[in-house]
Parts: sequence; C-alpha cells; structure tokens
Amino acid sequence: MAEPWTDALAGVPLDLLLDGQWQPRDDRFGVLNPATGATIAEVADASVADATAALDACDRVGGQWAATSPRHRSDILWRAYQLMLDRIEQFAALITFEMGKPLAESRGEVQYAADYLRWFAEETTRIHGEYRVAPQGDSRIITMRQPVGPCLLITPWNFPLGMITRKVAPAIAAGCTMIVKPAHETPLTCLLMGAVFVEAGVPAGVLNILPTSHSSQMSDALLADPRLRKLSFTGSTGVGSTLLKGAARNVVRTSMELGGNAPFIVFDDADLDQAIEGAMVAKFRNGGESCVAANRILVQQDIAERFNAALAERMRSAVAADGFDPAATVGPVISDKQRRHVDALVQDAVACGAELRVGGAARPGDGFFYEPTLVTGVPVAARISREEIFGPVAAVSTFATEAEAIRLANNTEFGLTAFVFTNDLNRAIRVAEALETGMVGLNRGLVSNAAAPFGGIKASGIGREGGFEGINEYLNTKYIALDASLF
Ligand code: SIN
Repeated sequence: MAEPWTDALAGVPLDLLLDGQWQPRDDRFGVLNPATGATIAEVADASVADATAALDACDRVGGQWAATSPRHRSDILWRAYQLMLDRIEQFAALITFEMGKPLAESRGEVQYAADYLRWFAEETTRIHGEYRVAPQGDSRIITMRQPVGPCLLITPWNFPLGMITRKVAPAIAAGCTMIVKPAHETPLTCLLMGAVFVEAGVPAGVLNILPTSHSSQMSDALLADPRLRKLSFTGSTGVGSTLLKGAARNVVRTSMELGGNAPFIVFDDADLDQAIEGAMVAKFRNGGESCVAANRILVQQDIAERFNAALAERMRSAVAADGFDPAATVGPVISDKQRRHVDALVQDAVACGAELRVGGAARPGDGFFYEPTLVTGVPVAARISREEIFGPVAAVSTFATEAEAIRLANNTEFGLTAFVFTNDLNRAIRVAEALETGMVGLNRGLVSNAAAPFGGIKASGIGREGGFEGINEYLNTKYIALDASLF
C-alpha cells in the first residue's frame, strides 16, 4: 500500500540542485514527520566539496547573470509565483508532512511565500541609482546599484517555504547567485521550490540547493572562501552570532533574522475581544514556533482576571492533532528535543510560582505533541520570561502602569517584535515609540507581510527582509564622481 505522503512527494527531486543539475548522492539523510515520527523521505546529503562546487558555479555565471535585464529576472520571479500557486496543494501537503502545522496554515504559508516572489518581481524593475549635484556645484554624484555577488542563504524549519522565498526572491531580483541551505528537518519543500524555479527558467548555476547534515562545516568552508560575498541567516541568536564571527573574516555582508521574546501588551482600555483574538494569532500561529510569537503576554492588572479567563476558554477549544486532521488547530512541535525544552520552561514557571490554567504536558503516544498551555502570574525570574518558547504555551504576567509595561517589555536582550492593544491613539504611538523592537503590531497579532520590512534590533538581528528595504540587502551602492567643469 502506498504511504500517505506518496502523492505529496511526486515530482519532488530528492537530490542536490548544483550548477543546474539535480545530482544524487550515496550519502542521504532522513526527513521525519513530527506528527508520527515516521521517516517520509531520504534526501541527498551535500558535502563540503559540493558547497565549493556550488560556489564555483555561482562565480562562473555571476557576471552574466548580473548583466541580465531587470525585466528578464522579474519574469522568472513572476513565472515562479504562478507555478508555486498552481502547486499550492502539493506545497502545503509537504509543509504539513515535514514541519507539522495544520494544512490550512500550510496553505497560508504557500500564499505568504509566493507573495515574496510577486513583491520582488515588482521591485526588480525599480532598482535605481541617483544623479546629484554636489553642494559645491563643481561635481556630480552618480550612484548605481549592483548585486553583492554570491550569497549563502541559510533557512529555518519553522516556515519551510516562506523563509526561503524572502531571501531567494530579492537575491534573484538583485542579480545575485546563491547557495540555499535549507534546514535539515525540512528540505523537501525547498527542493520542490527548486524544481519550480528550474521550470520558471532560472539559469544553471544561479540557484543551488544543498540540503546537508553538515551545516556548520559547510558554512565554515563557504565563509572562508573570499568569493562568497553575502550571508543571510534566519535562526537562533546563538548560531547567528557564531556565523557572524565566521563572516567577519572576509568582511562578508550579513542579514541576520534571529531570536525574539515578543511582549504582547494589553492595556485596560483595549477591546478585550480584539485582544483575545490577537493573542490567539500571535501565540498559536505556527503552533507558537515563530520568532514573532507572543512570548510574554503582559496584561494591565485590573483586567487580568477577565483576560485570563477568556483566554483560557478560547484555549480549551484548541486541538493539538496531526496537521492533516481537519480538527487540528495546532500541530506537533518539530522534535522531541523541542518538546522537552517547552515542557522544561512550563515546569520552571510553575516552580517559580506561576499558575497552570490549561494544558501543561506532553501528549503521550506517537509524534511530538505538546498540549496548548496557559500559565498565568508568571514572575520575571522564570526562564520563560527570558527564553524563546517556540511552542504552544501562553505565559501571562501583569503590570500596573504604562511605564511599567514599557520597562518589562524592554527587559530582554531581544528586540524583534512587540504587540500593543489599546484604544488610546496617543498611548499607542507613545508606547510604540518607546518599545525597543524592529516591529510593533498595534491592535493586531500579526505583523508579517511581504511588503513590510521584517527584522529586529538588539540580539534579534541585523537588516530587513521584505518591503522596499529587502532588496537593499542584496545590492551594493557604487558612487561615481563626475567633474562638472568638463561639460
Ligand atoms: C519567523 O518565525 O522566523 C518568521 C515569521 C514570519 O515571517 O511571520
């Protein structure tokens, strides 16, 4: 009997995409379904030598690719956008099989990922320089934008497609060549994306895809090679900081989208229903496995009990199940290790005095499920107040005044996103200005949008992805000085 994932895998190359060829390897590694623990596929395991060969290809075709017309590159992105949406069901099924999120959310991710292709297809034709008169009037300043060169794009498992297209699309738009290293937990979605790009007409050598179980050896080797000019990474702050050290050697440009510890602040003048809806989205989108997930829910003390009771009621109807089960609202977490981390944070919060209101345990049986969990009265000393949860656990604390809310919110080394719920416009702007984050959701639990600049400050990263800003990460500005006396 065919396995349930057979259809989803149809036409997915399980090889490396290297210099325009799908190349098999004897070394392979398994991809697990976190809902069952079953191995769904074995993919080719790229070596360090493969990475060097991919960089050779990037280097060889880079000049020709950079010289293509913006319209040509835009057309490739448009075709990839259409092809991705034509295959939305297959992409969504692969995401659910290898990452676990409910199928409806996987479909949402495919649309989100495709939006980056559409956005950067549009941005490709708007790359421009400037002509300026120098203040002295004796010279002219001409600027032009040029691709940075070969890029290494390292992507995480939590959004197996969205976190890749938001790097690949601007790199293609800018005229860069690239090596993509998908997370070893979720290479299948990326390999199907590679097939879509090949069909869309991306030339050989421009886009190389290297799934590997030797991540750090591969990135070390590539960062040591002076031909590599750009690193874009999404993942933990710990790994990001190690990569930054490696990138420093050859002064490689970096974009780093790292960890978060998002405060979700609810003032007593907020619309409570809206705040609860926002909290459900900010906390349970992607099962909480997102760097923009609400990590610390801070509620003004006079409404805290009403908020907690309403949130507990909503959470009791959340269903943790296999993402293919139509009833599932939350899938499994990615691994047993991650589940143990989540459980340790919950147990520590309770030991520090927090009250367990909903859930609070791993679900026995196959798969890496953790019950949707609510802990309230979480003290600042609890680990959960400082560490990224990356799981379906809502941790609520209280505050008395606006000043205290801001102080608590900023009491973290992270600075990715924050959420604020209030019906007072002046307060909304005042608090948004005071928050030390790269993004703020005002009366909404979702900030992500292909047209917006996504990124953080402090230990949450460097650079922006998406929006008008996203393409700049892949372009160098060159200035030409022109002597005005000659004309
Ligand atoms: C992330 O969790 O890394 C990104 C989430 C998003 O783009 O919304």
